[in-house]
Formats: sequence, C-alpha cells, structure tokens
Amino acid sequence: FSVDWDAAAAEKGGFESFMAKEIHDQPAAVADTLLGRADADGRLTLDELRIDPEMLKKISKIIVLACGTSAYAGSVAKYAIESWCRIPVEVELSHEFRYREPIVDENTLIVSISQSGETMDTLMAVRYAKEQGAKTLSICNTNGSTIPRESDAVLYTHAGPEIAVASTKAFLAQITATYVLGLYLGHLRGNLFTGQIKDILADLGKIPAKIQDILDREDEIKDLARAMSEEQSVLFLGRHVGYPVAMEGALKLKEIAYIHAEGFAAGELKHGPIALIDDGQPVFVVVPSPRGRDSLHAKVVSNIQEVRARGAKTLVIAEEGDEAVKQYAEFVFYVPETPTLLMPLLATVPLQIFACELATAKGFDVDQPRNLAKSVTVE
Ligand code: AGP
Repeated sequence: FSVDWDAAAAEKGGFESFMAKEIHDQPAAVADTLLGRADADGRLTLDELRIDPEMLKKISKIIVLACGTSAYAGSVAKYAIESWCRIPVEVELSHEFRYREPIVDENTLIVSISQSGETMDTLMAVRYAKEQGAKTLSICNTNGSTIPRESDAVLYTHAGPEIAVASTKAFLAQITATYVLGLYLGHLRGNLFTGQIKDILADLGKIPAKIQDILDREDEIKDLARAMSEEQSVLFLGRHVGYPVAMEGALKLKEIAYIHAEGFAAGELKHGPIALIDDGQPVFVVVPSPRGRDSLHAKVVSNIQEVRARGAKTLVIAEEGDEAVKQYAEFVFYVPETPTLLMPLLATVPLQIFACELATAKGFDVDQPRNLAKSVTVE
C-alpha cells in the first residue's frame, strides 16, 4: 500500500492541508453563495425558499439553532437581521434549546445553521421546534442531508465540500447566506428600501476581492503564528459583530492548536476577565471601523489600552487606515474597509490563518484534530 502523495497534494490544491486550501477557497465560497440570489443591481431572488411570503411577513421572532462555529455565524446574523428587519433574533445552542421549554409558536421562524446537516443536537432541536408549530428554514452546506430534508425550507450555502474538521469557508458562506436572508426579509416586510438593499449588495459583492486581498498578505499573520507557537493561552476580544468573530477565533485555536483560548465581549473585561491579564499575555482585539456609528471604536481602543497597561501583548485586527490603534498594538493586521455589519467576513480570515499556521508549526494534523469529528451525529 503506498500513498499517492501527488494525488493527495493535488486534492489539497498544493496547500499543506485541506484547511489551508479551504481558507483560500473563501472568496469563491462567498461569491458562489451570492450567485443567482443577490446581484449588484439590488435584485434578490430567493424562489428556492418555498416559504409563503405572507407567513414570513407575519413572523414575530426568529430563533437560530446551531452549534460551535455555526452558532457564531448565527450570532453575526443576529446583528444584521435585527438591524435590517427589526425582528427579534434569538441565537440558541441547539443542545440547550429544547431543555429550557422555549417560547415557540406558529409565528416563530426557526433558522437552523449546519454545515453538515447531520448534527444530532441541531436536528433534535429542529424536530422539537416543529412539534411546537414553528416554520423551519435550514441553512446548510450539504445537499440532501437530514436537517434540510426535515425542514420546511432550505437555503444552501455553496462553499463546496468542506473536508477539514475545523470549519472555515462554510462559516463565511453561512454568514453570507444569513445576510441574503436578512435582506430578503427586510425587503419583504418593508423595512429596507431598494436603494438600501442595492448599497448593501454592492458592498457584499466586493467582499470576495477583499478576502483575496487579505489572503495575499497572509505571510504577515503566518510569521506571527510561528513566533507564537509556544504560547499557552490566547485571549480574543471583540465588540458588536466583532464579538462572535472573537469567539470563532478562540474556537479555531482550541480545536486545532489545542491551546487554551477564550473569546470575550470587550466590554466584559472590567467585569472580571481583566484579572487574567498578566505580563506578556497575548490578546487579539477585533476593532470595529472608526467610520462606524456610536463610539464603538473609541471604546475598543480604550480596551486595548487597558490590557496593554497590564502587560498584555496586543494583537490587533483593524480596518485599513485606522491609525488610532497603532500606539497600543504590538502587532496590527489591517483588513480592507467595509460596512460594520459585513466586517466579520473579513476580520475572521486572519484569525483562521493564525490558528492554521500555529497548529501546522506545532506539527499537528490540522485537518483531523484529536477528539473531533467533522459531523457530530450523537447528542
Ligand atoms: C467548527 O470548526 C467545528 N468543527 C464545530 O464547532 C462545528 O461548527 C459544529 O460541530 C457544528 O457542525 P455543523 O455546522 O455541521 O452543524
């Protein structure tokens, strides 16, 4: 028996791992998930949904059911859908949902998010919600899998088969699909005007090229990862849509580099976690756009200052042109400008590269990390 290493290498597109290849597949994953549904002229086509628009007009709340990385996609969706549709969105971990007697009725839209479509926790939660009379919509990356088959409607992500256990391109495709769903609902329910939708879709259409711009500069992140390969713990801070990005960055590091990593809402620091900051403690901070509304940017910059003052090694993901972060950062990686709600599609990418490169530097099998399966088909 001999391994055809050439064939294996070809399968990975010449990359060291499927995960590295899939990180580089992300411009296409986002573009393919938009294709035929949302175009730069502001046209949204979701005929595939097959849920009565009249019912969608009546929904009083959305509950997202998902696990792990897919739940973080749901958390990003919450900010976007609540902003565009003015519908309350609850994001529930599937395995917690049905054990707390949730409030579900015929005006509840369940949106399950699952790359595999076979996650037992999410399947059981969807079945429970259906029994309570809710309409169910599956966002899924695997055609014909169980969860979409048991749902009233499905919005497939088109990331292509994701081989690595740690989800990357499916995550960005999931977020993209929830944006399309949110824009569709916002338009249907009259919360968004065509002009607004057109602007947002134009910005979404630019995302694949902006992801590619980040990938073209991946060596900046790879060098940092290799220099940090002996770190024992890394913290991740984010605010607003940067918070789920911080959670996802921490999960990536846990699951493939086996390093203790924790994501926090940046505002939570002073309520406890800041006690963790010791000399040299690496802290990633996902900084919102300085152009955004509110004083989100200023607050996060002061969070960087707070942890830096206590000896943290501050590793900042910021929007290009953001000079304010430089004075408090050991390391800054700039991502292209984009509206705040779309920023997770960009800020996540350097964190994926960081985890993948650090685990590779440690000699781990990033595609098949220990103790994990690609699809968790047990509860
Ligand atoms: C992601 O990197 C993890 N492998 C894991 O958290 C995954 O997102 C979770 O198990 C849900 O899987 P699903 O999307 O296939 O339902």
